[in-house]
Amino acid sequence: MGNIKDIEQTKRTWVVAHRGFSGQYPENTCAAFEAAIIAKVDMIEIDVCLTRDRIPVVIHDHTLDRTTDGTGLVSERSLSEIKKLDAGSWFGAEFKGETIPTLEEMLLLIRGRVSVNIEIKPECFESSAPADAIEVQVCELVKQLGMADSVLISSFQHSFFPRIKKWHSDQNITASLRTAPLEEVHQSEEYTLNLCRKLNAYSFHPDDNLVTPSLIKKLKANGIKTIPYTINDEKRMKQLIDWGITGIITNEPERMWKVLRT
Ligand code: G3P
Ligand code: MG
Repeated sequence: MGNIKDIEQTKRTWVVAHRGFSGQYPENTCAAFEAAIIAKVDMIEIDVCLTRDRIPVVIHDHTLDRTTDGTGLVSERSLSEIKKLDAGSWFGAEFKGETIPTLEEMLLLIRGRVSVNIEIKPECFESSAPADAIEVQVCELVKQLGMADSVLISSFQHSFFPRIKKWHSDQNITASLRTAPLEEVHQSEEYTLNLCRKLNAYSFHPDDNLVTPSLIKKLKANGIKTIPYTINDEKRMKQLIDWGITGIITNEPERMWKVLRT
């Protein structure tokens, strides 16, 4: 369970839970990950940032204000400060006590159960490329936990990807982790294809508005999967499935299963 090669064998569109089962549970928390696993998703998408003491943690915003009872920048708080925060109550009183997971805790929770799309937030990119840069820590952790076959790394900051490849070649690891550029602005199909080729991307993760049947087809013809975000509308899910999309990143995995079954 949780191996991307196994998902590739399925003949249907992949269900990817955006920030866990975030439509019904507080995003990027263990509650949302457990619920996504119970909903039998193929993959869970998460967001990672670095704390002040440079620990990768699972949170979407670069500030704490929206999804916790704390304030200010994640990068200005230590892990012990972050661990004191409540990351569940903002969503519902029944989720009080949920905390911000570290990336390691999240990976240990899901290991052997489901695959994971780790989105590295662009704010964490450091042009100085320190030895403990976020992309290095992600690669090291995945290797240490033996989870390479379950992980897909994405980012809007495409400069992370050559560094991920370099980390693998420095370690003499022939097969680099799977990677996927995220895109939110329109680019030509030619540009997108060249980008994916240049980065040796496993998949392309565009905003829903950028997806066309022709783009899916062009990428597919070149061995590249298309996995857009964030689709919660049943009609649109159905349309994308009919267009032959590889996967859909959604806050509502149960809704997507309903669409897939009909
Ligand atoms: O990875 C897909 C999606 O999560 C990208 O946007 O802002 O929700 O992280 P965002
Ligand atoms: Mg994300």
